Amino acid sequence: MGPGLILPATLLLLGPSLVFGMEGRLNPPAPQFLYQGKHECHHANGTRGEVRYLERHFYGRQEFVRFDSRRGTFEAVTELGRPAADAWNSQKETLDYQRASVDRYCRYNYQIYEHFLTTRKVQPTVKISPTRADPLSHHSLLICTVAGYYPSGAKIKWLKNGQEQTEGVGYSEEFRDGDWTFQNQAMLETVPKRGDVYTCQVEHRSLEEPLTVQWESRRSDSAKSKVWTGAVGAVLGAVFVAVGLSLYLKKRKAAFTAPAAGLMSQS
Ligand SMILES: *[C@@H]1O[C@H](CO)[C@@H](O)[C@H](O)[C@H]1NC(C)=O
Repeated sequence: MGPGLILPATLLLLGPSLVFGMEGRLNPPAPQFLYQGKHECHHANGTRGEVRYLERHFYGRQEFVRFDSRRGTFEAVTELGRPAADAWNSQKETLDYQRASVDRYCRYNYQIYEHFLTTRKVQPTVKISPTRADPLSHHSLLICTVAGYYPSGAKIKWLKNGQEQTEGVGYSEEFRDGDWTFQNQAMLETVPKRGDVYTCQVEHRSLEEPLTVQWESRRSDSAKSKVWTGAVGAVLGAVFVAVGLSLYLKKRKAAFTAPAAGLMSQS
């Protein structure tokens, strides 16, 4: 189930904590053919709007039979589910029990899970990571990672010098981290100039005001400082070479002339 299913007006309660009781493997155990039973409560507006209960049976990721409180009977989703649906629909007690589930299981338990499903709010962390795809090109890819938030639905914008960017902006799909938080990324492809300020702006239900993180292009500065370092190094190197060479030549001259002077004085 994608995170997109949780809409402000229609809260689907598909939490893993609600999937229990009917999970198990059939014989012979084959990992790709897992039997799953899922109990789902769909709340349009807490317990005030429509509440819908689904009991879904899967084999090998394929749903084959389900009970839907809207329908009030079991329904075969594939041929595999037909015998089960027919058998369970012929049992009055089974049907009575299933029809009461929307109250017994969803409405009466709503208070228990509402605080961690609907009231719970966790603020995101925002991080900008600059990457350069091609070292020879001036294009940069700025990635804004927004992570650890709940509920789903963070709105991410890229701004350059305060102006919202629409060109060169791409979004990844929001995904569940698996710990009751979500994350998403927005990418901006750009040619940063020295002094450009890029801002990743995030709006989320946990935040009273948008959260912003800035990144300033310093590429030209750093390139310049590298050139300066290189130039100073080259000049220093040349000076050392010149001094060394002149000392060496002076010494050599002295070595050649000294013995000659000695000989002269001896004779
Ligand atoms: C949910 O129910 C409350 C109380 O009845 C109502 O005030 C509110 O407008 C409803 N919200 C929606 C989205 O229907």
